[in-house]
Amino acid sequence: MKKIMSMLTVVLVVFSTSVQAQKNTNKIAPRIIILATGGTIAGSGESATKAAYTAGKVPVDDLLNAVPDIHKYGKISGEQVAQIGSQDMNVVTWLKLAKRINQIFKDNLADAVVVTHGTDTQGETAYFLDLTVMSDKPVVLVGAMRPSTAMSQDGNRNLLDAVMVAADPKSQGKGVIVAMDEKVFDARDVTKTSTTNLETFRSTNFGPIGLIYDGKVSYYYQSLRNPSKKFDVSKLNELPKVEIVYGYADASPETVSNLSTIPGLKGLVYAGMGNGNFGEPVGKALANASKNGIVVCRSARASAGRITLENEVNDAELGFVVADDLNPQKARVLLMLSLTETADRTKIQQNFFEY
Ligand code: SIN
Repeated sequence: MKKIMSMLTVVLVVFSTSVQAQKNTNKIAPRIIILATGGTIAGSGESATKAAYTAGKVPVDDLLNAVPDIHKYGKISGEQVAQIGSQDMNVVTWLKLAKRINQIFKDNLADAVVVTHGTDTQGETAYFLDLTVMSDKPVVLVGAMRPSTAMSQDGNRNLLDAVMVAADPKSQGKGVIVAMDEKVFDARDVTKTSTTNLETFRSTNFGPIGLIYDGKVSYYYQSLRNPSKKFDVSKLNELPKVEIVYGYADASPETVSNLSTIPGLKGLVYAGMGNGNFGEPVGKALANASKNGIVVCRSARASAGRITLENEVNDAELGFVVADDLNPQKARVLLMLSLTETADRTKIQQNFFEY
């Protein structure tokens, strides 16, 4: 009997030690899923010293194998969601990404998600996910300006930093973030500013929310524009059609009137001069589009600042909404999502001041 009791005690001690070890492992080893979509971070070129390359060539397993140190930060696994240059990013892939991330968190398959993505449209994807992912868990987007085969490639360092940021508990509750070039940006504010420089991402109005150095992230502030109410895309396979038209001196009104005839067009974002302004002929075409049921949103072609209501334009009379400080491509994202819920321009305007 004594022998049985002492054997039982040993079994219990071993069991509780392994449960504790498992708990400890979970604590120090968050589960992180890398969702790969392509881009230059997965780009491949013929020469390490020439600029030419093709984006989205390297599969996710090879990306992860190239940075073995990521496994220091957690239990890492990868999934290939798309394999494209981000100039080919589209609504269908956005919806697929948002649904997959929501499913991962709903099924408790991961504590954080990292999305590898081309830099060209990374800001738009980040903002789309920010508006549609229903979790406080970290979602970190990352990319690179040089292909994986280049001598000066930045993808491995950026990926390692992004995984570290995703694993850090401080990254929770910040909405979707972008980790690039030793900085962390809020999805809403970040934009690509240089066609070829490594230091291309900026938040032109507010700056980065955090800085990365030597394997650590320090946060300095957090956006207040992170409403808990997100857009539910779980049952959607497409979004209302919204296009963007660019403003410039002496623009022809046909830039707007021709665009307005696109079948099924529901919204038009106007990237205006200064405070979202337009010349008279374009103004008339925009007013016409608005009268015909197309929601017209005034934004700015300038890289910083915001659009204010009723400044030089009688927005209420014309039925226009303004983008606040969103750039035209992000205003398009919010307008498409808003139009999935309402065509009421007052409510849509409210969204631009809240999201
Ligand atoms: C892309 O956006 O896919 C190409 C450019 C890049 O990733 O830097």
